[in-house]
Amino acid sequence: MLLQLKDIDKDYMQDKLPVPVLKKINFNVSDGEYVAIMGPSGSGKSTMMNIIGCLDKQTAGEFLFDGTDIAQCSDKQLSIIRNKKIGFVFQNFNLMPRQSAVENVELPLLYAGVKKSERRKRAKEALVRVGLEERMYFKPTQLSGGQKQRVAIARAIVNKPRLLLADEPTGALDTKSGDQVMELFKELNDEGVTIVMITHEPEIAQCAKRIVYIRDGELFAREGESL
Ligand SMILES: Nc1ncnc2c1ncn2[C@@H]1O[C@H](COP(=O)(O)OP(=O)(O)OP(=O)(O)O)[C@@H](O)[C@H]1O
Ligand SMILES: [Mg+2]
Repeated sequence: MLLQLKDIDKDYMQDKLPVPVLKKINFNVSDGEYVAIMGPSGSGKSTMMNIIGCLDKQTAGEFLFDGTDIAQCSDKQLSIIRNKKIGFVFQNFNLMPRQSAVENVELPLLYAGVKKSERRKRAKEALVRVGLEERMYFKPTQLSGGQKQRVAIARAIVNKPRLLLADEPTGALDTKSGDQVMELFKELNDEGVTIVMITHEPEIAQCAKRIVYIRDGELFAREGESL
C-alpha cells in the first residue's frame, strides 16, 4: 500500500480554538492507482492533499507513506521524501517566472544533488515526454496555460516519483489544454505512476479509475466502492 490514512483529523487553530477541518479520514491508495478526490470549496481537499504530500502533519490519526510513519519524520526526512517520491502539480503551475522551461524542470534534480550535465539531459527528456521539445528555452510568460502546465508536469515527473499529486490541475485551463493534461496523466498512470488528483469538475474526475468524495471534512466512497 502506498498511502494509508487511518482516522486522520486535522484542526486549524482560530482565536486559540481548534476548528476541525478533516474528521476521521480513512483512505488507502495502492501502487498504480489513479484516484480523484471531489468536493465543494472549503471541504478540506487541499488540506488533505497537504497531508498526503507530506507538506503538513495531521492533528490526530496515522499517515503511512510507503510504510513510513510521516508524523515521526524530521523536516529533513520529509523534504527528501517529497523530492524523491512525490511529484506535485498545482492549479496555477507554480513555475519560477525568470527561469526557462528546462531550468524549471531541472530544479528537483538540483535539490536531489544530480550533477549539471545529467540534470540537463533528464530535464530535456521530461520535456520531450510532455511534447514540449520545441519550447525548452521559453520562459513561463512566453508559454500558454496548457504549455505551462505541461512544464509543471515535466518537473513533477523528472525524478521518477512513485506518486503524482495534483490539486485542480485543469482548473486554470481551457477544455482542450485540460484534455491534453488528462491524456498525459492517463499515459503516466499506464506507465505505473500512482496518481491522486483533486478536482471539482465531474468530467475531469471521470478520467480517474476511482473517485472519492469529501464533504465538510468527511470522506465518502460511492456505494459498493472502498475508501
Ligand atoms: N492555514 C489555515 N488556517 C486556518 N484555516 C484554514 C487553513 N487552511 C485552510 N483552512 C480552512 O480549512 C477549510 C478547508 O480548506 P481547504 O483549503 O482544504 O479547502 P478546499 O476543499 O481545498 O477548497 P477549494 O476547492 O476552495 O480549494 C476551509 O474552511 C479553510 O478556511
Ligand atoms: Mg483547495
